[in-house]
Amino acid sequence: MDEVVKLRVRNIEKSFPGVKALDNINFSVRKGTVHVLCGENGAGKSTLMKIINGIYKADAGEILIDGKVVEVQDPIKARSLGISMIFQELNYIPEMTVEESLFVGNWPKNRYGNVDWGAIRRNTIVLLNREGLDYSPETKLKDLTVSDIQMLEILKAISWNSDIIIMDEPTSAITQKEVEVLFKKINELKSRGACIIYISHKMDEIFKIADEITVFRDGCVIDSRPKEQYDMETVISQMVGRKLENNFPKEEVEIGNTLLEVKNLTNKGNFNEISFHVREGEIIGFAGLMGAGRTEIMRSLFGLDEYQSGEIIIKGEKVSIKTVKDCINKKVVMLSEDRRRYGIVPVRSVRENVSLSSLKKFIYRGRLHAKEENAVIEDYCKKMRVKTPTVETSIESLSGGNQQKVILAKWMVTDPDVLILDEPTRGIDVGAKYEIYVLMMELAKQKKGIIMVSSELPELIGMCDRIYVISKGKVAGELMRSDFSQEEIMKLATKTS
Ligand SMILES: Nc1ncnc2c1ncn2[C@@H]1O[C@H](COP(=O)(O)OP(=O)(O)OP(=O)(O)O)[C@@H](O)[C@H]1O
Ligand SMILES: [Mg+2]
Repeated sequence: MDEVVKLRVRNIEKSFPGVKALDNINFSVRKGTVHVLCGENGAGKSTLMKIINGIYKADAGEILIDGKVVEVQDPIKARSLGISMIFQELNYIPEMTVEESLFVGNWPKNRYGNVDWGAIRRNTIVLLNREGLDYSPETKLKDLTVSDIQMLEILKAISWNSDIIIMDEPTSAITQKEVEVLFKKINELKSRGACIIYISHKMDEIFKIADEITVFRDGCVIDSRPKEQYDMETVISQMVGRKLENNFPKEEVEIGNTLLEVKNLTNKGNFNEISFHVREGEIIGFAGLMGAGRTEIMRSLFGLDEYQSGEIIIKGEKVSIKTVKDCINKKVVMLSEDRRRYGIVPVRSVRENVSLSSLKKFIYRGRLHAKEENAVIEDYCKKMRVKTPTVETSIESLSGGNQQKVILAKWMVTDPDVLILDEPTRGIDVGAKYEIYVLMMELAKQKKGIIMVSSELPELIGMCDRIYVISKGKVAGELMRSDFSQEEIMKLATKTS
């Protein structure tokens, strides 16, 4: 069996200040297969991938390709060895254009040795047409949606003809249709003998795409088997190290006054005549297919985008929201789906990121009360099980899912009246999802209103009191908890008129 092994890692060790990220890691990936890595947030998955891709250097251990030990000093060397990687954190340069982003680091040259822009344009158009992506080569990345950028990253990695392709949560931000395109691509890659290392927190997806599954926990490999010898329950219990009650901590909460009401909100081309409200103690959901306009509605409400007509009423008062600050001043806050763009201040510490929006709370008589600040922040980090050596650690060094938890903590500390959560559990492991639901419930009990936008129907159904279903920029229907069902929501979400 060994002759089909394409990539092997042997005794890999990696420590960061205060954390042993990887402890004696061994595993191998066979030609023409998809090898899925599972594990809680912070288990070490991305770290291992970054070592294979030459971004980090292992403290010890070896990487073997086709049975030979290789040195992967940097991503350029990785590429020459046939390795490419799609990163978990979308790390793009907003001013870059689509064509620049596709060819950066790999510029075609003309016979004078200059960058051949004509060739770049032609190749980009061919590639975009082939993949049915309808954006222009000159579009700047900042004008694309998260899912467009993610799709572009996927294309880029695939277009390099690598035979080891690492995909670190590639589907966290793309539409269902794009997921199907990706899976088709993966099958093509497999049939030409490439191997794919695939990281995801989505269990159904894992079982659809995997040939083999390896489970990580706390920097160690717990188990590795062909998919046929696994089931979902086993994977989950190996990941979290305990049996998980896989349900939702939903409780009855007394519903109070209306906190926020939106009437006929319209932003032409994105959504039309949207009306909804949320009351004290209520969790309302926004369901819909990706691209239906849910994020756009929340962006306008939060002052990130404009709206042409409609009313926003907060606690009975008609307000005009032009900027994010207007909204935060009215005690309405939002957790954005694109955490890179709107969520974190990268070089700052966990503590600074959490307290940034609520500094006022900890300043009185002109002094910052660091002790109280720390106590509150540590409390939230503990509640959400944020895995970080200390609160002074830079947020960038946290795993993807843990960064998401820090942003959530940041908004909770501001003590808002209404929280808008756009895909709050994206990239969050199964165990920590539950902790986030518990926190949402706690907030509801404190008479706060919660708006949850989610693409995961089970969590909407599990946690919400009411669900608005958005289709093509309109409210296609509103469902009460007693009437929730996946079928009914999907029927409304795919309604065409
Ligand atoms: N550059 C870094 N500096 C310091 N610590 C780091 C760095 N990168 C990762 N770590 C730490 O190493 C551990 C493993 O992180 P890693 O990103 O590999 O987790 P992961 O399994 O990919 O999690 P997730 O599912 O949240 O993406 C975490 O404790 C993380 O905080
Ligand atoms: Mg990761």
